[in-house]
Amino acid sequence: VVDVGNLFKQTGCFTYDPGFTSTANCKSAITYIDGDKGELLYRGYPIDQLAENTNFLAVCYLLLYGELPTNAEFINFRRTITNHTMVHEQMTRFFTGYRRDAHPMAVMVGTVGALSSFYHDSTDISDPEQREVASHRMIAKMPTIAAMTYKYAMGQPFIYPRNDLDYTSNFLQMCFAVPCEPYVVNPIISRALDRIFILHADHEQNASTSTVRLAGSSGANPFACIASGIACLWGPAHGGANEAALNMLREIGSVDRIPEFVKKAKDKNSGFRLMGFGHRVYKNYDPRAKVMQKTCHEVLDALGHGDDPLLKIALELERIALQDEYFIEKKLYPNIDFYSGITLRAMGFPVELFTVLFAVARTVGWIAQWKEMIEDPEQRIGRPRQLYIGPPRRDFPAPA
Ligand code: ACO
Repeated sequence: VVDVGNLFKQTGCFTYDPGFTSTANCKSAITYIDGDKGELLYRGYPIDQLAENTNFLAVCYLLLYGELPTNAEFINFRRTITNHTMVHEQMTRFFTGYRRDAHPMAVMVGTVGALSSFYHDSTDISDPEQREVASHRMIAKMPTIAAMTYKYAMGQPFIYPRNDLDYTSNFLQMCFAVPCEPYVVNPIISRALDRIFILHADHEQNASTSTVRLAGSSGANPFACIASGIACLWGPAHGGANEAALNMLREIGSVDRIPEFVKKAKDKNSGFRLMGFGHRVYKNYDPRAKVMQKTCHEVLDALGHGDDPLLKIALELERIALQDEYFIEKKLYPNIDFYSGITLRAMGFPVELFTVLFAVARTVGWIAQWKEMIEDPEQRIGRPRQLYIGPPRRDFPAPA
């Protein structure tokens, strides 16, 4: 690692690094990825062990505070989060301003950004207590806003949070319960979604997290910073990939058409890529994809969708791609998004909501990274350099 922090000041030189492939913008103690080994650790704990042995809210605690909670700490944290699950009743008015057919991510960007207008007491980010409250509010309110986004698109009444349920079961009931009808959360679905949230909770300096850090480096309101992360996550190269992967599997349509799509993905002129394949950091199997594939099987079996034709296509596509020279040479493996779309669809979520679910889970990562940045004495306002390639200085033409 070369510290080039003061290179410009000392020499007038700077590095040119599109996409920041070789440039670290911060020090972080939250998440570690070894892309060659296919390893992902939250605060030192392997992702598969966390997904197997704990729940999302405990992982939120771990990411925020650095250690797994004791029983007492967990109960206290859970109580704090459930205290904040409601959104101000005025928030419902925002929704009536959105088109019914607006993309849910567009609604999320607007509504989460609007939280900054409700919580003026979170604007003094130099106060650790205010930072703490903003973090809790964000983690607690995100599922409520996400479920409201879904209900609004469906034309159904909003369902209020139920604080007797765990974090993920409460989210499921806010999405799928309807007034005057009993709704019982399926524990298999709830556990699977909780695990999916764990897998998506943080992923070090990905595009949306870097966006949150950059926005936050100017001292901006934390809710506005999270809204900027949501905007970045929306793109198909990032959080929108699970939606794109599912659409691709649908387009392939049958196992016998897979070779045609693999061929197209290898042709640079086609502009087509296998969605859900490849990763900037993982040059080995994405460890989250392994857990995701297992979860996918569990959910489909539990719901009686074990023979889902899209799952068959996905498994066969993975098999063919992993034996193909092109994919081997470029180290392109399925990423987390490859199987998450099939799983979420089986749970009853519409495709347009997939990235919203990702945003619900990633909120804790964004907020933990934002807090770490604010509390880092070395952190300065983010201000990348540029390599200017425009015309040299020239004089404004003299009047004719
Ligand atoms: N299908 C076919 N070829 C691919 C794919 C793919 N999915 N991904 C990368 N390649 C090829 C590229 O064409 C390039 O080939 P070249 O070296 O001959 O030019 C090479 O592999 C490297 O690709 P880059 O785009 O340079 O890699 P980068 O690290 O910038 O991109 C990315 C990573 C965006 C994830 C890319 O692999 C991709 O577009 N994948 C599909 C979208 C996707 O699944 N995104 C989800 C990411 S995970 C997440 O956000 C949770």
